This record gives sequence, C-alpha cells and structure tokens, in this order.
Amino acid sequence: MMERPVHHHRRKSLIERIRNRGGGIAIIPTSNEAIRNGDVPFSFRPDSNFHYLTNFNEPEAVLVIVVGESSQCTLFCRDKNIEQEIWEGFRFGPAAAREKFLLDAAYSITEFESRLGEMMPGQPAVWYPTGRDPVWDARVSSALSAVRAQARNGQHAPGTIQDVTAELSAMRLIKDDVEIATMRQAARISAAAHARAMRVCRPGLNECEVEAELLHEFRRMGCDAPAYPSIVAGGENTCVLHYAANDKTLRDGDLLLIDAGGEFQAYASDITRTFPVNGKFSGPQVEVYTIVLEAQHAAIASIEPGADFMTPHLAATRVLAQGMLDLGLLNGSLDGVLESGSYKQFYMHRTSHWLGRDVHDVGAYKVGNDWRLLEAGMVLTVEPGFYIRPAEHVDEKYWNIGVRIEDDVAVTVTGSDVLSKDAPKQIVEIEALMRG
Ligand code: GLY
Ligand code: MN
Ligand code: MN
Repeated sequence: MMERPVHHHRRKSLIERIRNRGGGIAIIPTSNEAIRNGDVPFSFRPDSNFHYLTNFNEPEAVLVIVVGESSQCTLFCRDKNIEQEIWEGFRFGPAAAREKFLLDAAYSITEFESRLGEMMPGQPAVWYPTGRDPVWDARVSSALSAVRAQARNGQHAPGTIQDVTAELSAMRLIKDDVEIATMRQAARISAAAHARAMRVCRPGLNECEVEAELLHEFRRMGCDAPAYPSIVAGGENTCVLHYAANDKTLRDGDLLLIDAGGEFQAYASDITRTFPVNGKFSGPQVEVYTIVLEAQHAAIASIEPGADFMTPHLAATRVLAQGMLDLGLLNGSLDGVLESGSYKQFYMHRTSHWLGRDVHDVGAYKVGNDWRLLEAGMVLTVEPGFYIRPAEHVDEKYWNIGVRIEDDVAVTVTGSDVLSKDAPKQIVEIEALMRG
C-alpha cells in the first residue's frame, strides 16, 4: 500500500516555512528507546514531530531536510537485519523506507554523522528541536563541530542553530482533515470506553477493575495505548486532580470520576466523565453536577473562530462561580467572587488546553501579550470542574463531591464540533445506561 501523501505535504509546508526564514538544514529525530527496569524497555512511542512529518514508527531514526533552492528529504533508519527481525519483528531498512514513505533518500542510521558532515557545509542554519534530548543534542553538536573544524579547508559551517519546534508547533496547532478524522476516531473509541465503564460500575468493585475495562475497550478498538495515565477516582479521590493510584474500593453513594482517553494512530483523546458508583445521583450530587454541566455548555457555546483562547474559560468560570454562590459555598456578589478569585478553592485549573498528538498539545497560547484567537482546525478540551473537599465552612452534604466533565472540541468555520459527543453526560442518559 502506498503511503498517504499527507506527510509529504507536511514536509513541503515545513520546507516553505524554513525557506521563508533563510533556509538551512533541518534535523528532526524520533524518540529514544528507554529502559523501564533491568533489560525491559518502555513501549516505544515515536516523537510527535518526527511522526507528523514521516509516519515512520521505528526507533533509531532521524529526518534530515536540506532547504535551499531545491530541497531534499532524507531518512536515516535501522538497516534490515534478518537475525534481529527473528527476535523483534519487521523493520523496513533504508531502501524500502525511502519508497514507502515517499522520501528523496534514505540511509542507514550508522551513516548519520558522516553524511551529515557532507550535508551541513554551506548551509546557513541548522533547524533542530533544541534542548529536548541530550543524546541528540550531543550528536548534532558534534557533527557541527566536525564541520567547523574543516574551516581551513574552505568549508562554511552553519552559523546559527534555530529551534525548529516553533515552526512545527504552529503547523500542528491547525489540524488538517486527516488529523480531525483520526481525532474523531480516538474520541469515539474513548467515548465507548467511558460508556463501558458506566455499564460495569457498581459498589464493591476496585478502581483498577474499572481501569481494566477502559483499557480493554481502547485496545480492542485499535488504540495503541491510553494517551496518558487513566484517572479512575472514587469518593474523596474525585477531588485529587491527577489521582494516579487507582486502587481503592468503590463505595455505594460515592461518585466516580474517570479522566481517560485512548491514543489512536498517535492522536490523543482526553475525556472526563463523573457518575454515581451505584447508578443514581444523590440530591447534592445532582446540584453540583448540574452546575458543571451548565458551565461546560456555556463554554462550548462560546467557541467559534475569532473568540480568544480564554473565552470558554471565562464563560465556564462565570457559571461555576454563580453556582458556588447559589449553593452557599461562597458569599458576596458574582463580580466580587470573579475578581477576588475566591472560586479557585473549588475550581483551581483552566478550562482548556490544545489537544492533538500530545494530550497537552503544542501551539502558542498567546500571540505577543494577547490570547490567541481561535481558528478552524484547532482542537481544544473543555473541562470545567467543581471539587469540594471537607471543610468547616462547607455544608457536610457536599463533602467529597468532585465533578469534572471534559470533552474534545474542534473549532470549525461556523463554530465548533464536539468530537467526544458519544460519551454520555446528561444525568438521565447516565442513569438509564447504568440501570441497563
Ligand atoms: N487528562 C489530562 C487533562 O485533562 O489535562
Ligand atoms: Mn484535559
Ligand atoms: Mn483529562
């Protein structure tokens, strides 16, 4: 099967950007393999920028793009090795990789330094993701030093090192149609995983048993892995924002907060749902949940091209703060609460972040001093929350109620599109699903 040309187009876009800034040689490595313990490796995940430009999944690979009058894209990757392939499985090798991934050239990774030494002289700049990986920093610096050492032979070493990350982040912030379709599928699978968790949940189960149901659905439907460690938090743990233990027994009468999303074809989903362990929201749980749902609705309704990044946060915070006043958790006026920030004792995080290949995806949030304006193709989460820890000034009926509702929202030319809309979130929907 021929590779989709979308990666080829992305390389061309990067070439144009670099050319507009004076040209040079771009060096974009994939991730390094990492040891988990003993001789056991972590599961390999390609670098998001490298994979965005190549779709190449193997470790020990680097893309080099020379941008001049003409341009050339070269992949360095592992050699074919039948002996190793018996143990570890298929690897492309340079010749097959060049053809499959529509590259101009491909060589063995063992030739990286020597060929870089031939490609660098005369280039005005090295475009490289600086300061991200000490191993690659050292390899690129040493190649640069080797070229500088040839100055007496008339070679010109690149004069500057430019951070290529800013260019790639700007590109990745606006998702193309292929990316939106992939993210929609990641969100669909993750929504099904949340629905599965609701169906199996009952008092007496351990949080880890519910986590296993999520993982089952992710993998069964083709996700590589969870996009980040799943948060499966019952009772008082609903108020722990990045709860990670997932090892407590779920109790009758408590809420369960699940923040979990699958990674599908290297794109993340990030969904949170909160529901009663026993399938029926109590009165105080309904009160808090309804406020968060309304806050999320207001935030999503505010998303459209031209609104700025903080618009949904301000919309959500206003509804949450009014809710805190209505429940008697805060005193004063709405404007006073918003101005003093007293609502932060119950809502202490932002409503949104960019979403893409990385769960907290790349892309500048501000342009100069101003929050970035939303544009079609951006994808952001909308995740208001309301977390009530035990405290003297808080009515006991609300203690340990933590609610977050998080969806993945694409900005469209006319407004927004909730990619994760299949995950149940209306109270009647959740209760009906859990009864069934
Ligand atoms: N799951 C991480 C977050 O919601 O930002
Ligand atoms: Mn999130
Ligand atoms: Mn999340």
